[in-house]
Amino acid sequence: MVHQDVELKRGLRDVYFESTESSFVIGDVGRLIYRGYDIHDLAENASFEEVVHLMMVGHLPNKSELEQFDNTLRQSRSIPNEVIQVIDHIKNGHPMDVLRTAVSSLAAFESDVDDTAHDATLRKGMKITAQVPTIVAAHHRIRSGLSPIDPDTSLSHAANFLYMLSGDKPDQDTARLMDKDLIVHLDHGSNASSFAARVTASTLADVHGAIVTGISTLKGPLHGGAAEGVMKMALDIGEVDNVQSYLEGKRERKERIMGFGHAVYRAEDPRARHLREGSRLLAEKKGDPKWFQILSKVEEHMRPYAERGICVNVDFWAGSVYYLLGIPEDLFISIFAVARVPGYVVQILEQQDKNMLIRPQIRYDGPMDLKFIPIDQRS
Ligand SMILES: CC(C)(COP(=O)(O)OP(=O)(O)OC[C@H]1O[C@@H](n2cnc3c(N)ncnc32)[C@H](O)[C@@H]1OP(=O)(O)O)[C@@H](O)C(=O)NCCC(=O)NCCS
Repeated sequence: MVHQDVELKRGLRDVYFESTESSFVIGDVGRLIYRGYDIHDLAENASFEEVVHLMMVGHLPNKSELEQFDNTLRQSRSIPNEVIQVIDHIKNGHPMDVLRTAVSSLAAFESDVDDTAHDATLRKGMKITAQVPTIVAAHHRIRSGLSPIDPDTSLSHAANFLYMLSGDKPDQDTARLMDKDLIVHLDHGSNASSFAARVTASTLADVHGAIVTGISTLKGPLHGGAAEGVMKMALDIGEVDNVQSYLEGKRERKERIMGFGHAVYRAEDPRARHLREGSRLLAEKKGDPKWFQILSKVEEHMRPYAERGICVNVDFWAGSVYYLLGIPEDLFISIFAVARVPGYVVQILEQQDKNMLIRPQIRYDGPMDLKFIPIDQRS
């Protein structure tokens, strides 16, 4: 055995590998900053398109900059028929598997796929940002035996996504709620999927490939999958009166409560506030307050955990918002991807602009000096 005398930083926790100007997660006090602006300020006052401009271009747009930027996104939403056919062929796959395959196939329709210059990555990144909702919605329609709905350029990014999913144009409040959901999920420091996208970009691979890496990484239950778990929990609980006994059972079995705890936040996840309010308003509007009441009670019973830094996270309320919007549970991570893809573009741009190949070391703990044995002499 070899014994390399090096300290491991497993999971790269507490390792700073690069600097960024895009997002800042302040875990101990529960703050999230996008290019200097507090997430609460942006969620309350800006549109998703404005925030995408802020993050990709570097500043909040003035009116004409926003008009031009938004118009480019609106005109870029459609996807080639060949990609619709790919989706149709693999329609029985998980929505995230279909999404990553469809994004990968989009590369075949770009003439400058390998151009990693800033302007080319920005242009292609904006196009992928516009196309991802179309892929998610087209797949959902096709697997439900329905025809995909063409994007409507008169609608905002969020409203058009909901329209392409259901066929109904959402009212202003619902569109705004989805808009806020996309804003708060857009970027989040060195999260696992953005880091993975950076690793791919650092080899000077193309933006499509780096985004496919990000989407593939997001799918894991330790990253993008918790919102689905929260709604399953609420459905399991079934009635407000069952909350206490359900949580006691979980505690006795030492099981985790979905939607609580975070690798960085030790205070309430600042993103949760906007979705809690959204869930409350949506429940009121739909005349279906039960799920909001159950989750509020879970939150109340979990308060003592806050002393140990285990607080409510963004997924806790996101799940109920999507459920009340009638979105099936296996699409929850795809909605996260719709929001996070522009975040990948931002981090890929940063990586390419001051690139250094990401190539850490790994300690070898295996055997040494073994002698090769020909196959017919092996037991
Ligand atoms: C997100 C998560 C993986 C972060 O974990 P972490 O910061 O690395 O913390 P650890 O996994 O080391 O847990 C630390 C302690 O808190 C407890 N804990 C963490 N999250 C908990 C939860 N949701 N419910 C109950 N206990 C929890 C652990 O059991 C552990 O207790 P112990 O020290 O007695 O063993 C974890 O909180 C979790 O699994 N949450 C549920 C899933 C979820 O909501 N994920 C979405 C994140 S946005």
